Amino acid sequence: MRIGVDYYPEHWDKSLWEQDADLMAKTGVRLVRMAEFAWSRMEPKDGVFDFGWLDEVIRLFADRGISVVLGTPTACPPLWFYEKYPDAVMVDRDGQRIRTGIRGHRCINHPEFRRYARRIVEHMARHYAGNKAVAAWQIDNELEAYHCFCDRCADSFRGWLKEKYSTVEALNRAYGNVVWSGEYSSWNQVQPPFGHYPDAWMNPALMLDYNRFASENVIRFSSWQASLIRRQCPGVPVTTNTWFCEHMPDFYQEFKDLDFVAYDNYPPTRLPEDPEACVSHAFHLDLMRGVKRAPFWIMEQLSGGPGCWMPMCRMPSPGMIRGYALQAFAHGADTVLFFRWRTASIGAEMHWHGLLDHSNVPGRRFTEFANLCTTAKSLAFLQGSEIKASVAILFSFDNEYAFKIQPQTEGYYYFEQLQRVHRACMELGLNVDVVSEKEDFSGYRVVIAPEMYVTDPAVSGRLHTFARQGGTVILTARSGVKDIHNNAVMSPLPGVYRDMAGASVAEYNPIGRDQIPLIGADGQAYRGTQWCDILEPEGAETLVRYDGDYYRGSAAVTRNRFDRGLVYYIGTVGDEALYRRILMDAAGDAGLEVYPDLPPLVEVTTRTTADKVCCFVFNHSPEPRSVTIRGETLSLEPFEMKIITRNP
Ligand code: GAL
Repeated sequence: MRIGVDYYPEHWDKSLWEQDADLMAKTGVRLVRMAEFAWSRMEPKDGVFDFGWLDEVIRLFADRGISVVLGTPTACPPLWFYEKYPDAVMVDRDGQRIRTGIRGHRCINHPEFRRYARRIVEHMARHYAGNKAVAAWQIDNELEAYHCFCDRCADSFRGWLKEKYSTVEALNRAYGNVVWSGEYSSWNQVQPPFGHYPDAWMNPALMLDYNRFASENVIRFSSWQASLIRRQCPGVPVTTNTWFCEHMPDFYQEFKDLDFVAYDNYPPTRLPEDPEACVSHAFHLDLMRGVKRAPFWIMEQLSGGPGCWMPMCRMPSPGMIRGYALQAFAHGADTVLFFRWRTASIGAEMHWHGLLDHSNVPGRRFTEFANLCTTAKSLAFLQGSEIKASVAILFSFDNEYAFKIQPQTEGYYYFEQLQRVHRACMELGLNVDVVSEKEDFSGYRVVIAPEMYVTDPAVSGRLHTFARQGGTVILTARSGVKDIHNNAVMSPLPGVYRDMAGASVAEYNPIGRDQIPLIGADGQAYRGTQWCDILEPEGAETLVRYDGDYYRGSAAVTRNRFDRGLVYYIGTVGDEALYRRILMDAAGDAGLEVYPDLPPLVEVTTRTTADKVCCFVFNHSPEPRSVTIRGETLSLEPFEMKIITRNP
């Protein structure tokens, strides 16, 4: 298990480089990421390249046994470039060009930007080809599915639509453009959804396609850079560092062309009141591992209190620096780089803290980091180990986009629904992969398919087969609602899933933040919120009923035997106890081992090597906890991780 740091030699006086490299080597840092914003130093003038300074730093690291990850600097073209091509900046939804002097503002479709990006990437990759210190390449920085509304991007969107629909008539049909006289009679009338009206006023079918286009657009950009790097510098793995942003590209597609997944992980430093948010980063980690179903890297890991885009936040409490990094290992990371070595003393991010403060005097956080480096070394035996999961949660980018386009009811957000079921798995110590709905999930025992809202017939077909062949499926409200274009399906809900669920939705009630009492068949009380599907069982047994409102006594949660499998349908957004109960039952049906007695906010994850099963037990809470695993009792300090091993 490798620890590294993000370092910006161009921000510091040269006299610090050697000192920094010495301290890194002494502390146990094995990898350094650099250069992802340093275009103006690598090409100070148009066509004039200078890699001398970077060569020097790389040499300092290499001499100390430290490898480097090089970032292509395409998030920040230099100002001399914008002076020549002022229209290479993105245009926002109000039609305004974004200001230069920040980062990530270039229009990735601008031909001159592409030409210059190609040149710097090729120069860099050629220059460092064969350099043994270069361990990997990072493309750009935190790429997003940009919504750029410049004329060029609008044209490109029209081209994408033409390819998909061939004629405007077909497009009109797919989008239902008759509404509000929105029918196109020529391609020129097609506009991306910009303007200052909220998205909710736009045609949802157009909006969904626009999001798909934006995702494919940035993925093409990333694949293009990967091919440039590979041609010049073969044999070195290429990735990009991703994150959860407003406009996310489809990670599952994005990383298909890249060698491994890298993710920027900033768990909260102030523990939120909402326990959902408290454990959500475990969900993020499982999602990142699920993207390629393979070990991944953390390219940026929490090092100090965040600040700069917002007022400064709390510093990580004792245990967080080490605990959150070990948690990433527990969930499948094999390399964790900390953002950043030292807090910047210049520029917009000077209040986003690194491992070292401005003073450059190693303090509490640094000592904890040094201690982590020692632990990471002792975990070498985990290299190549597997996280075997029998449970999968299906993730769909169509749904992610579609729910943002048309929020269903107050407080209802797709990601959070996934996190709720994920949390229940964690509380039971179940390993869980968050995988694309488009991938093959036949190898799992339990497939949780929350909110299968936009219907891809291939996916619903595979879910049917999975259940028929003996799998357990958990479906929830808002499934089978839309067709592939994001238009409502004219059939009783849950549409294509009705036969599997063995129940149909007689009526639904979006109740926003209100709550509704629920009662289990065994008399156990639960609470629902946000959404109520009033279910009519058509063969399914009722597990939980509504215990209030005009539908008191109606089914809220059902279970159906479907051929050789079982299908649960959860018609409301339940409390923690409800999901826990259903997951316990589903795990029981599938014969999976659970840890039902874990104290709150203690998670157990398992990695398996050829000859060992390693249980990572992590205390997420700010209180000490005691936990008994297979007869062994462990005491855990706040944010402490302990690892227990046994034979398979
Ligand atoms: C990340 C980004 C870094 C830095 C960091 C702290 O999202 O990739 O470059 O900006 O946040 O703000």
